[in-house]
Amino acid sequence: MKILFLDQSNKLGGAELSLADVAKPYRSDCLVGIFADGPFRELLEDHQIPVQVLTNQPIQIHRNSNFIQSIGRTGSLVPLIAKVAEIAHNYDLIYANTQKALVVGALASCLSRRPLVYHLRDILSADHFSRTNRRIAVMLANRFASLVIANSKATRSAFIEAGGRSDITAVVYNGFEPENYQIQPSSLTQLKQQLGINDQYVVGHFSRLSPWKGQHILIEALTHCPSDVTAILVGDPLFGEEDYAKQLHKQVANLGLEKRVQFLGFRSDIAPLMASCDLVAHTSISPEPFGRVIIEAMLCNSPVVAAAAGGVVELVESARTGWLVKPGDVRELADVITLCHHKPELAAKIANQAQQQLQVSGRFYLSATHQQIAQLLHQLMKGTPNSLDP
Ligand code: UDP
Ligand code: GLC
Repeated sequence: MKILFLDQSNKLGGAELSLADVAKPYRSDCLVGIFADGPFRELLEDHQIPVQVLTNQPIQIHRNSNFIQSIGRTGSLVPLIAKVAEIAHNYDLIYANTQKALVVGALASCLSRRPLVYHLRDILSADHFSRTNRRIAVMLANRFASLVIANSKATRSAFIEAGGRSDITAVVYNGFEPENYQIQPSSLTQLKQQLGINDQYVVGHFSRLSPWKGQHILIEALTHCPSDVTAILVGDPLFGEEDYAKQLHKQVANLGLEKRVQFLGFRSDIAPLMASCDLVAHTSISPEPFGRVIIEAMLCNSPVVAAAAGGVVELVESARTGWLVKPGDVRELADVITLCHHKPELAAKIANQAQQQLQVSGRFYLSATHQQIAQLLHQLMKGTPNSLDP
């Protein structure tokens, strides 16, 4: 099947990392069209996935920026839509991976008469989007998409609650290749030395720096934890949230935590870093649509504490495969960190249970994701209704 994937971003966010995985089986016949040049193009090229930067015109890549503004600037969108429609003639379907890609993909699908698939990776609720943006996303998906692939049940429910058609949606979780996360503890000594964390209790946070990802919650929680608890914050502000990054540095200074918090910036060696941590914390204060970092931590055999909202509750069973805490609850987070610090055997047991459950169920394996997406696309091309094997 020949697929024209579209993504608005040039950065390595979770949506882009997942798309690189989704596109792998189609690499001999697909094209990933992106709306700006950058590290995402390089990643796709590294994976031998054909990629083309479709415009030199900057389309503001703010995840939450206003659709109306984007559409209003149709000056820059019209040539892009025309170009995508022309390219689409050589493909069987258009697969939009982000919201601006949906805008472009919807109109290009109409012009080229190619079916549109929308991989919905955002929770279309008031926590994340204005009413107008939600309505436009839903209207475009309902009107133009033949299939909406939601990255969790929570994402699917929010879409339907916002007026989205349930008959065109299916849930497919992000998938991972477990072998990429198998790290020998003995190989970590050097990395820990480099980071100066050999003798510390380390809580890791892996996410782009963004207010809703809640890095500030972890920083504050440290003040309620034993003084040998430290944190590494892995990630950069990817979508224009530099002010938040500055705020976090200020918060660390104001709380006198300079010796206990390290900002590592964007890293590609996520697995060894996670495996070096005693605990991985996910602290989003708005519902997380899926939360790749949670499954990645489990695959690395690191215990996880995560904010219980959105898709996260589909990933973690509290006190069995990790811990769930109330989003934004600093004390509860500090209590779990302190518990894991004082009871390392318990934390190790929970991490083992999580890893084993992933192995036994294969639920978040990339092979399962590939199989489900292939099944859905096959049904779409045959004109039969969406259904996935249980
Ligand atoms: N990530 C990364 N380097 C970093 C920080 C994060 O490669 O410095 C990866 C992380 O391993 C995960 C993805 O970025 O695969 C983030 O995805 P997630 O679903 O957790 O959140 P998103 O940013 O997509 O909302
Ligand atoms: C989005 C969501 C994140 C999800 C990722 C991959 O970036 O914010 O929760 O894991 O897409 O689907």
